[in-house]
Amino acid sequence: MSDMYYHFQNREGWMNDPNGLVFFKGRYHAFFQHYPFAPRWGQMHWGHTVSDDLIHWEEQPVALYPDREYENSGGCFSGSAIVKDGRLYLFYTSVSEELGQTQSMAWSDDGIKFTKYEGNPIIRKSPLGDNKDFRDPKVFEYDGGYRMIVGAGKDNIAKILLFASDDLIDWEYKGEILSDRKFGSCIECPDLFRIEDKYILMFSSMVSLPHRVCFALGDFDGERFIFDNEEEPIFAIETGPDFYAPQTFEDPEGRRILIAWMYNWNRRAGSGQKHVGAFTVPRQLELDLNDELIMFPVEEACPLLKKESRFVSYDRGRLKVIFEGRTVLDRPYAEEPQVMVLEDVGVVELFINGGKENITTYIC
Ligand code: FRU
Repeated sequence: MSDMYYHFQNREGWMNDPNGLVFFKGRYHAFFQHYPFAPRWGQMHWGHTVSDDLIHWEEQPVALYPDREYENSGGCFSGSAIVKDGRLYLFYTSVSEELGQTQSMAWSDDGIKFTKYEGNPIIRKSPLGDNKDFRDPKVFEYDGGYRMIVGAGKDNIAKILLFASDDLIDWEYKGEILSDRKFGSCIECPDLFRIEDKYILMFSSMVSLPHRVCFALGDFDGERFIFDNEEEPIFAIETGPDFYAPQTFEDPEGRRILIAWMYNWNRRAGSGQKHVGAFTVPRQLELDLNDELIMFPVEEACPLLKKESRFVSYDRGRLKVIFEGRTVLDRPYAEEPQVMVLEDVGVVELFINGGKENITTYIC
């Protein structure tokens, strides 16, 4: 397959989750889970790419290598970024034989070369007493200090753990903000952010529900997440198969922008493929007039959207994606949905009814 036009793909090897999304010193930076040596998952590095417009990306040198003892098995797993006093900080899960999954930090003043903090790991022990599933720190500012949420699990109950810090180094455990066996043995890539006066909790579930990326609306008081809807707190706005481990960040215009890994764990690379995985097109999350969460490509990507696509059709109550005679997707919709499509080499992203639902899928 030739390379995609509008989606970031790494040059060589494997990529999965977007990590450390941030606007720093005038440019957008995105890092990603990366194995540079083969088109398959392996000991994790952090790849790095930058952009001026969220559409054209320039891949940079690898930002984090798994070169420390505390990273000597799985390497540098997913995490996030934050800027404090002009310095860029990355938080990631370091995975080693001896300690299992721990949380570590690296910093940079130019956004290209990173130094690992000498006191790593900054969180050595999961408060659940089990470092097997304790990963993907997302750090954000809260009330003049910082909070970190981490995906975890114990005894087949998936959880999100909350920590607080004033200096980004010493983290105090505050408790669980979610605990539910419905999501499998561990939650991956949790995120918690505000849009207008609502907080949104987002995470990836290892179990298909059938959607893997879950959202909840509610409030956050620095210690607890209070769900708006106690009965059915979790919903999906992306229902396609090739969307996982999204992360969000706020850009200087105050937009809440999301990028996900466009691929999934069940796919296998075709023979001769030099690189595997991509980012979705960056999407903006907003609340609509009814306070419902919607997701739509950032305005920089809107000129790429089409009202009609040769792959997409609606007929007798069914929305279909068909590629070379093969049905890739077939879903019932009682009324004809309004669909905008972004096509690229081998993939389509569908934005339905103004962004109430998104569907991301490879077509070949
Ligand atoms: C999600 C995930 C994360 C982990 C990373 C490892 O896709 O499993 O939980 O940090 O990938 O590459």
